[in-house]
Amino acid sequence: MTHALPRYLESKHSVDERAFSRRVQDRLVESLPAEPTVLEAGCGTGVTVPRLLSWGVDAGTYRGVDTDECIVAFARRVRPAALRRAGHSVTEHARAAAPDGERRSAPDFTVADLSVSFESGDALDALEAASDRDLVVAQAFADLVPLDRLVSAVESALRPGGLAYLPITFDGGTIFQPDHPADEAVERAYHAAIDRRPGRDVRAGRHLADRLRRRDGELLSIGSSDWIVRPTDGGYPADERYFLSRILQFVADSLGDAERSVDGLDSWLATRREQLDAGDLVYVAHQYDLLYRAP
Ligand SMILES: C[S@@+](CC[C@H](N)C(=O)[O-])C[C@H]1O[C@@H](n2cnc3c(N)ncnc32)[C@H](O)[C@@H]1O
Repeated sequence: MTHALPRYLESKHSVDERAFSRRVQDRLVESLPAEPTVLEAGCGTGVTVPRLLSWGVDAGTYRGVDTDECIVAFARRVRPAALRRAGHSVTEHARAAAPDGERRSAPDFTVADLSVSFESGDALDALEAASDRDLVVAQAFADLVPLDRLVSAVESALRPGGLAYLPITFDGGTIFQPDHPADEAVERAYHAAIDRRPGRDVRAGRHLADRLRRRDGELLSIGSSDWIVRPTDGGYPADERYFLSRILQFVADSLGDAERSVDGLDSWLATRREQLDAGDLVYVAHQYDLLYRAP
């Protein structure tokens, strides 16, 4: 999938950091045990590991699962080095192949007393095969998979009272500024194109909240975590110009074929790319962070 390009995911990091709901995060951190067992669905480049450490979680186990083997290889290569540069003590472990059909038990590396492994595979299968986890994380993930299966799989992976943290869950709002006459048509067609893909839900955030409210556990906290990317002093922070170029490309790719296209799309895209070059484009995506406690 196109979103899974390592540079896109790394460029998304500074945008996510601004967006996270601190209220939801605080509720999560105060509810975590000292040495949690963590399973992350769609772990991407492994950015949750430094986040756990920043919350004081420096012991326990973390296992990240992603379907994209390139992303998993990138996380294994880049994350230990980045953690070392940030001043953490990291020990890497030799990778021995597991026998066919078995999961490797050794971690990829240990940072402080936290054992970390990244694995390629389907995260829904991994959740369904897991049990007794203290924490399941699914960041920028719930809008990509069937929600009913995700909710059941998350709950089955958790111990009684375990936590599910689902930040950056897209909820069907895409805004570009300054105003353009084709904005409404482009947004409508872009969202419809996402919705047409099997298992996808463009309003995953609100529908996930609905489903979690109906479960036997408790939706402990929900907060908005809108991405807001805007130029400051004529430029974009970190690698966010690249991030925006990818977002425009996602729109172009989604609406690329004649059937799905929108009158004025070429002119809309050309204008948005000029605004990006000029450091004048603003982008907002509406999202929620959710925290659920299993019964
Ligand atoms: C939008 S990215 C988010 C990555 C990471 N959580 C982050 O926020 O930086 C979604 C990730 O989910 C992965 N993915 C999509 N469907 C998956 C599935 N069924 N099982 C595991 N990973 C999946 C993609 O390969 C991609 O890396």
